[in-house]
Amino acid sequence: MNISRAKGTKDIFFDEMKIWEYVEENIKQICSRRNMNQIRTPIFEDTSLFSRSVGNETDIVNKEMYTFLDKGGRSITLRPELTAGVVRAYIENGFSSMPSPVKLWYTGTMYRYEKMQKGRYREFSQFGIELLGSDSYLADVEAISVAYELFRKLGLLDKLILRINSIGCSNCRTKYVDALKEYLADKIDNMCEDCKARYVKNPMRIIDCKQDSCKSQKSNLPMITDYLCEECNKDFENLKSTLNAVGMKYEIDKTIVRGLDYYNKTVFEFISKDLDLAVGGGGRYDTLVEVLDGPHTPAVGYGLGLDRIILLLKEYNLFENNKNVDIYFVVQDNNAFSKVFNIANDLRNLGYIADIDICGRSIKAQMKYAAKINTKYTCIIGEDELKENSCSMKNMDTSEQLKVNLSAQKIDNMLKGGK
Ligand code: HAM
Repeated sequence: MNISRAKGTKDIFFDEMKIWEYVEENIKQICSRRNMNQIRTPIFEDTSLFSRSVGNETDIVNKEMYTFLDKGGRSITLRPELTAGVVRAYIENGFSSMPSPVKLWYTGTMYRYEKMQKGRYREFSQFGIELLGSDSYLADVEAISVAYELFRKLGLLDKLILRINSIGCSNCRTKYVDALKEYLADKIDNMCEDCKARYVKNPMRIIDCKQDSCKSQKSNLPMITDYLCEECNKDFENLKSTLNAVGMKYEIDKTIVRGLDYYNKTVFEFISKDLDLAVGGGGRYDTLVEVLDGPHTPAVGYGLGLDRIILLLKEYNLFENNKNVDIYFVVQDNNAFSKVFNIANDLRNLGYIADIDICGRSIKAQMKYAAKINTKYTCIIGEDELKENSCSMKNMDTSEQLKVNLSAQKIDNMLKGGK
């Protein structure tokens, strides 16, 4: 029996890998220029980390986690998201004694046992940022602006909508949940089984349930933004006016409540205009560090779905796959190979992508291979060239051929001359 990859996973290679590298290079550049630090945390963590942070009553913890007992009998979970792991690392490594705010970013794989559909996998990757130690709406603006900059660089900005909301603090929410339950009291019997359970355990999650039977019961729902306390209201107003002032477009979406328990105040999502997909989501989580037994540390962050970003780049044809190889060396024999070996390395150090035959094939077979790998130039060192210490540089687009001295310097000069 052939072994195939597990459901919900994928192999990433060749042309698609180039797009991933391109996105990841942009992420790295944007984050390092903002004085943010990359963090890597383990792919598996103690299960209780997720039940205590993401929340026992969420779909993620309830239905979607890959949890198992290891050989020592410990309950282990493959991370379904990364905020919990970052906060654990923050506490465990004493980041709170460092200059605050602590500005972190990450990329990595996460695992959720979800129903498969376009853009939804069981192993998927996120780019995320977590800004820990600021309770100001300015941190929300800064966080959002990192995603904004990435989408601008990738050409995706006008393909996405930023939707924001405030779900207030625990004080606002207590009053709101009472009003919500009162409104739903005579409707809940007509709603889906999940919402019936949510009514008791997590009523705000009823708001974003997409089931038809539930949608029809929610036409006049009370909205959390009408229940915000003075401080939460002021923060939300400040956030909106600062986003306006710096020119970051957004829409208010009062139905965003987010599917993880740790959020408060600002929440937001980036939604694809054409595909029905959230490309990212996040918000403020001012109490999570304390919930996990750390010091009071207000924080904000989000995760962007990298698989979905790649999907959009492919969908809109926004990535130009440049030629893979600058120079492919075609060599007559072992003598030519030894001569060219170091020249190829010198050219690599100058920034060229250089490749050389490692199969000992004939010149004809090497030329065939060069045509297949999409190289810009082929550098041919046959018998004559070897005697003359020269090489023939063939432009693979125009077939124009030029003899130059066999040295990295001369080849570099010739390529810079653009011939
Ligand atoms: P989340 O909304 O669960 O938030 O996930 C963030 C993004 O990850 C989603 O908007 C989506 O693009 C992507 N994503 C989620 N599930 C899948 C899947 N099954 N397949 C492909 N992509 C997926 C969080 O994970 C929070 N930790 C974000 C955060 C960071 N909040 C504060 N800090």
